[in-house]
Amino acid sequence: MKVKFITSIYSDLHGTEFGGRPSRGGHYRFSLLSLLKMTNADFLCYTSENELESLKEFFYDNYDISKEQLKFKVFDISKSKFSPLIDLYKNVEDTKKSDRCVEIQYSKFSWFLDEDGSYDYYYWIDAGLSHCGIIPDKYLVDNHSVGKYYECVLFDNNFLKNLIEFTGDKFFLLAKENQRNYWSGTVDPKWYKKYSYDLHIIGGLFGGKKEKWKEIVDIFEKNIVEISNDEKKIFFEENIMSLMFYNNLNLFNYKEFDVWWHEDNYREHSEDFFKKNKSFYKILEEFNNVENKQKNPNLTELTNKVAYDKRNLTELANKFGSDKGNMHFECHFYTEIYEKLLSPYLDKHVKMLEIGVNDVRFPCASINMWTSFFENLSFFGFDINPASKEFEKENVKIIIGDQGNSEDLKKIILESGGEFDIILDDGSHEHLHHILTFTTLKDHLKEGGIYIIEDLHAYDCHLTKEWFKSKGIEHKLYCNEKLLIYKK
Ligand SMILES: C[S@@+](CC[C@H](N)C(=O)[O-])C[C@H]1O[C@@H](n2cnc3c(N)ncnc32)[C@H](O)[C@@H]1O
Repeated sequence: MKVKFITSIYSDLHGTEFGGRPSRGGHYRFSLLSLLKMTNADFLCYTSENELESLKEFFYDNYDISKEQLKFKVFDISKSKFSPLIDLYKNVEDTKKSDRCVEIQYSKFSWFLDEDGSYDYYYWIDAGLSHCGIIPDKYLVDNHSVGKYYECVLFDNNFLKNLIEFTGDKFFLLAKENQRNYWSGTVDPKWYKKYSYDLHIIGGLFGGKKEKWKEIVDIFEKNIVEISNDEKKIFFEENIMSLMFYNNLNLFNYKEFDVWWHEDNYREHSEDFFKKNKSFYKILEEFNNVENKQKNPNLTELTNKVAYDKRNLTELANKFGSDKGNMHFECHFYTEIYEKLLSPYLDKHVKMLEIGVNDVRFPCASINMWTSFFENLSFFGFDINPASKEFEKENVKIIIGDQGNSEDLKKIILESGGEFDIILDDGSHEHLHHILTFTTLKDHLKEGGIYIIEDLHAYDCHLTKEWFKSKGIEHKLYCNEKLLIYKK
């Protein structure tokens, strides 16, 4: 039985006319590494000319993946089979803000047409499917500082064997509950033979025998062309797949779940919530006959074995998963500069404010880093996300608000008393927010204090640099491409 998974990695689409999630390079690579534990299958990964060499280096050179098991194919997504249709109806401005790329979504179907049919089963799988957002800690195994968020024991040949058996002669789909929890919408009821919206088909993993694929691709194409031309707009592939599912129920074998979340990462949901709602990973457990599976013995113990130097800020950033170090996500390496800049504060009492403390990819990482670095710290965090409150502890206070709103910013002064030694803006990264935050808070920075703005390369933040220069305080500034540091 020969099996092939088709996937793609295009990590630099965020903010472009194609749309995509920001900073996913590391995530997609480490996740795909985990999926490759299904060694009885071959993988084909579509990518861009730009990303090809670094992907080869990562998988072939750094991780010894065989060139037989994983192949890459360069593909220009602006020239997909469906591009003429997409170009007619896509709203480019909305797409620039979107984290989804319809060119890739539709290509999940048309890429199959380039296959020579030498495999028995073909599946589409999202390269980023294996991650700590949907896999609970007990199944995450790696102690590599990045890999540990993605390396899941549930994707292996046992999973693969059971997936194929379950698929059988039909086409395999995954379906999410669509009424009680997150509502994913549907296409207009008029397209349904009999309208139903209980289940929303997801586009992360699907497939079946090669003979079935042709039929599915034809139905997908017919639907997408007819509906887009009628409604003069573009739909996500999942909405079309949900329609296909309901109009052709006999073609599919499917597994159902209720929520993506699991017990470890959504603590606002009660134990009872997870009794009533089936998490996505339960499907992986079912395909793994999980009773027999060796679960991760003790993740915390493994992670703690990694030695680190408390005064080495880069090591601390890496340990806690922050992208301020040189290991995670965009690997900004700001810590090299901060370590020198902030060393005079090491043995003093430090009052610090950080705007933005809750990156969904590494929540609380910078708080953990700063509280480990400074011996005697009063830390104030400010974030728009109310869930950040849960990071509060003895020397950490969290204030909730929007840095684009001066009234919210004033709350910081009221609740902290101001007089900060260090203020660090790692929030929205919007130019106007940088200026409003600085003008509101600068009087509450101590004389000689440090004010840092991160990620000037994001959005139009080069304007921030211009604004600072126009204030005639150039002698007080340190600036590079990504960072602005002002000393009062
Ligand atoms: C890059 S993350 C911060 C990462 C964190 N400093 C670290 O290194 O671990 C950006 C944070 O800014 C917050 N944020 C985004 N827009 C904001 C706004 N307008 N006001 C306040 N916080 C905002 C987000 O909720 C997110 O937690």
